[in-house]
Amino acid sequence: MQTISVVGLGKLGSPLLAVCASRGFGVIGVDTNENFVRLLNRGKAPVDEPGLSKLIAKNRRRIRATLDYSDAIYNSDITFIIVPTPSTKSGAFSNKYVLGVIQNVGKVLATKNKFHLVVVVSTVMPTSMDAEIVPELERSSGKKVGLDIGVCYNPEFIALGSVVANLIRPDFVLIGESDKRSGDILKGFYLRFCMNKPPVSRMNFVNAEIAKIALNSYITTKISFANTLSVICEKVPGGDCDLITGAIGQDVRVGGRYLKGGLPYGGPCFPRDNRAFSSFAKKVGVWAPIAKASDLVNEDMAFRVAEKLNKILSTKRPKIAILGLAYKAGTDVAEESAGVRIANMLSQSGFRVSVWDPKAMAKAKDLVLPNIIFAKSMKDSVDGAGVIVITTPWEDFKKIGVGAKNSGAKKPVLVDCWRILDPLKYSKRFLYETLGTGSLRNFR
Ligand SMILES: NC(=O)c1ccc[n+]([C@@H]2O[C@H](COP(=O)([O-])OP(=O)(O)OC[C@H]3O[C@@H](n4cnc5c(N)ncnc54)[C@H](O)[C@@H]3O)[C@@H](O)[C@H]2O)c1
Repeated sequence: MQTISVVGLGKLGSPLLAVCASRGFGVIGVDTNENFVRLLNRGKAPVDEPGLSKLIAKNRRRIRATLDYSDAIYNSDITFIIVPTPSTKSGAFSNKYVLGVIQNVGKVLATKNKFHLVVVVSTVMPTSMDAEIVPELERSSGKKVGLDIGVCYNPEFIALGSVVANLIRPDFVLIGESDKRSGDILKGFYLRFCMNKPPVSRMNFVNAEIAKIALNSYITTKISFANTLSVICEKVPGGDCDLITGAIGQDVRVGGRYLKGGLPYGGPCFPRDNRAFSSFAKKVGVWAPIAKASDLVNEDMAFRVAEKLNKILSTKRPKIAILGLAYKAGTDVAEESAGVRIANMLSQSGFRVSVWDPKAMAKAKDLVLPNIIFAKSMKDSVDGAGVIVITTPWEDFKKIGVGAKNSGAKKPVLVDCWRILDPLKYSKRFLYETLGTGSLRNFR
């Protein structure tokens, strides 16, 4: 059985390491974050992800972590690299951290006599593997890729909040390979790692690099299409975007997933992968307006909610409660989330804004404007609010009726952006509004 090393123990690296251990592999984690290394060595999860803590605790004997590259590389057969590739101004990704890691790994491989497979999981721009990463590995190791060492590009298609489940049962595995032997080794690894038998798509580096950002860019197109449909339905009496997406999503050419009208997409992958797709198209001289259009629709979605509230409340200035700072339910990540953006826009317009999220309060701290109130609980946030906006479809928000005190005005406005509540029930207590339907009363 192979031993696996994982460099970068963040939102993707830690779950990958834990799943490896749960599937019987010995794993060694490497990170520059000492706390993450310490936590893993104590059998604790460095990041918050459903199922991760349990998996690490249960498979603790097969997991260890270190700050020392030599220890990890010498004592493993395959190294997965999952460090950040931050976006640059042009929308492309920077390889600076990946190249730093490659250099460290290469230095160790220079003195290792056994074949070693290096797998880049971090999302990189197309041509990065051939133009930068493989040359740097060959330079720092003094070895020939495809002969003494192997390299694969192997992006994961996971969603935060379900990373463990997505890793174990992927729809497919994508492998860009330096040579057949390396691809065979990685495919063999996945046959053992996955609990389903996913199709494995093998190709050269550049096609795998394009496939990774193309897939996410395609999903953003679908989301922006559903959101456009949602806006159209709001203009048509009796319009209901859920009825329409529910129907057309049954056609296998369309598919129902990621086809729900609501708020803009966010998080650490969709927005930036879509921009990277645009940026790469531009780099190769191709006019690719679809990705740009998805981005524009997405920007507009948060803005229009804030604008509409601004308009209907033009003279009044009630407290506004924003429920949901996570970019989606099931995660503590608030990066590019609709809730954060709407809260900031309303605060800039002079409203007193209180925010609440069951998980993402800590991560949203640095993202929201300083005068926004961080509530102590959902009840604390909604008490006294004239307007309540549900921006993330958390299950917890279905208990909103409990304990919400009136602001003194009439009924508070409740904007259920994802339509998670029963309108009949909530109309008694609130001026209940949704996005995506033509039955809006106060929210036009
Ligand atoms: N999170 C996702 O949903 C997701 C999905 C698909 C792809 N990716 C890609 O995976 C990569 C990592 O994303 P993430 O979300 O896990 O990032 P993250 O920020 O959560 O984790 C990255 C980890 O790498 C560590 N690190 C940084 N430099 C290092 C170094 N030189 N040596 C060792 N460790 C180092 C950091 O301390 C951190 O723990 C990115 O390229 C991202 O685009 C992420």
